[in-house]
Amino acid sequence: MADLKVLGISGSLRKASLNSAALRACGGLMPAGMGLTIFGGLGDLPLYNQDMMDAGIPEPVQRLRTAIADADGLLIASPEYNFSVSAALKNGIDWISRVPNQPIQDKPIAIFSASAGPLGGARVQYDLRRILGQLWGHVLPRPEVFIGSAPAKFDAQGELADEATRKFLADLLAGFKLWIPRMARK
Ligand SMILES: Cc1cc2nc3c(=O)[nH]c(=O)nc-3n(C[C@H](O)[C@H](O)[C@H](O)COP(=O)(O)O)c2cc1C
Repeated sequence: MADLKVLGISGSLRKASLNSAALRACGGLMPAGMGLTIFGGLGDLPLYNQDMMDAGIPEPVQRLRTAIADADGLLIASPEYNFSVSAALKNGIDWISRVPNQPIQDKPIAIFSASAGPLGGARVQYDLRRILGQLWGHVLPRPEVFIGSAPAKFDAQGELADEATRKFLADLLAGFKLWIPRMARK
């Protein structure tokens, strides 16, 4: 059977993002039979504006839409901004929610968060679950992974160096591998 295709999206646009670094680490923690591709174009999306949508779906939105539609599952790494979802990630979700046959519907999704604070983004995950649920995305309930005090868990090269965190992410991915076929449309 072909590998399950997972699309990774980081809600942080900055180069040294810890969420993006943790997402890259997930590429090496995937169980057999699952492959990760990371979407790099979230920062190319304009701010949502219905006038633009009416003039034709912007190309970066179209790219995101196709990438989500082609994936068997989504893996979202989300920073917590002021107790909630980053503007970049919410903007991407808002655009996708308005395209015809919006592809988050029925999509298996796994989420995790990395933050500088000790709670690791505990609050953002519940907002994200609420938003994705409204679009009929199926978010894996457990295990939950909160990477707290995140700057201490990466080495000078930006690699995820904390063994416990690597194990939490590996467990999340193993759970996601079972979740994807479980949520597949009957
Ligand atoms: C606008 C803004 C708001 C933030 N709000 C929170 C917050 O509510 N909770 C938290 O734990 N960290 C907060 N932080 C700190 C982030 O956790 C930290 O910058 C983190 O590294 C961002 O993720 P990234 O490394 O993937 O960019 C905030 C950072 C920014 C820039």
